[in-house]
Amino acid sequence: MRDLIRKLTETYGPSGFEDRIRAVIREEVESLADEVRVTPLGSLVAVKKGTGEGRRIMLAAHMDEIGVMVSHVDEKGFLRFTAIGGVNPLTCIGARVQFENGTLGVIGIEGKREDRSKVPTLNQLYIDVGATSKEDCPVRVGDAAVFVRPFAEQGQRLVAKAMDDRIGCAVLIETLRRLKKTQNEIYFVFSVQEETTLSGARTAAYGIEPDLAIAVDVTGTGDTPEARPMAVELGKGPAVKVQDRGMIAHPLVRDLLVKAAEAAGVPYQMEVLEYGTTDAAAMQLVRAGVPSGCLSIPCRYVHTPSEMVDEGDVEGAVKVLIEAVR
Ligand code: CO
Ligand code: ZN
Repeated sequence: MRDLIRKLTETYGPSGFEDRIRAVIREEVESLADEVRVTPLGSLVAVKKGTGEGRRIMLAAHMDEIGVMVSHVDEKGFLRFTAIGGVNPLTCIGARVQFENGTLGVIGIEGKREDRSKVPTLNQLYIDVGATSKEDCPVRVGDAAVFVRPFAEQGQRLVAKAMDDRIGCAVLIETLRRLKKTQNEIYFVFSVQEETTLSGARTAAYGIEPDLAIAVDVTGTGDTPEARPMAVELGKGPAVKVQDRGMIAHPLVRDLLVKAAEAAGVPYQMEVLEYGTTDAAAMQLVRAGVPSGCLSIPCRYVHTPSEMVDEGDVEGAVKVLIEAVR
């Protein structure tokens, strides 16, 4: 599974620019699913047919990642940019970003700042792509870039950019690979634009009309120095979400995931997240409402270029999902 995680995390795919990552995932799922299609907004749907008398279950992991978008090019070829999703200026300075056409940029900071003890805003940062003028700049306004950093493994810990949420994509692909036919029809959705609007999962759910939906995404942890208290730790198993800023998990789904973890003998944690949300929040609100919840992969340093997960948690999540969708 490590090779798959490496391939997925190192592929380009900021929100709204998911063509490449979709092609990579499509290649992985094509031979495993009974049917593969792309929604009008670009989400990839792989269907595992059931025996007919079951329910429709939707699993969703988002394939987009955070990034930056060029908003202005100055006469010397320096770029100003805006965020795609939640980008923290603290993680930007000195970082490298890469555009779809391969252009590499370095993020710099204005020298003339009034109060240098303050955290800079994104407006005070720029991207240097090595251009000498506006004319020879290899990218233009509206082009998007992602943070680049190689995948790394350190024992059980895996570190990469875009673990959010390529790790969820890896869990879905692996679940599809190992899953035997069940009575239920299972939709594996690799959604677009979670980091910006949740529009991919929302519209996919409208089309699929699932009886139940589960998002698989990363969540924060409370196990680092002076972290905000949170009862989720790396390496203690996947987390069953109870609540985040966007939703309260449907009790049916929450309890299903707990029972599945216990039946599969996988250690798990209960998650209450005080910031952020996932595709599950959008799926809940589709049509007359879809009972939705979320299985989370604990992740340190979310939305930085070095997101860290534990391989045991990832493996546990696959086992829980296989048990849950039966
Ligand atoms: Co995110
Ligand atoms: Zn995410």
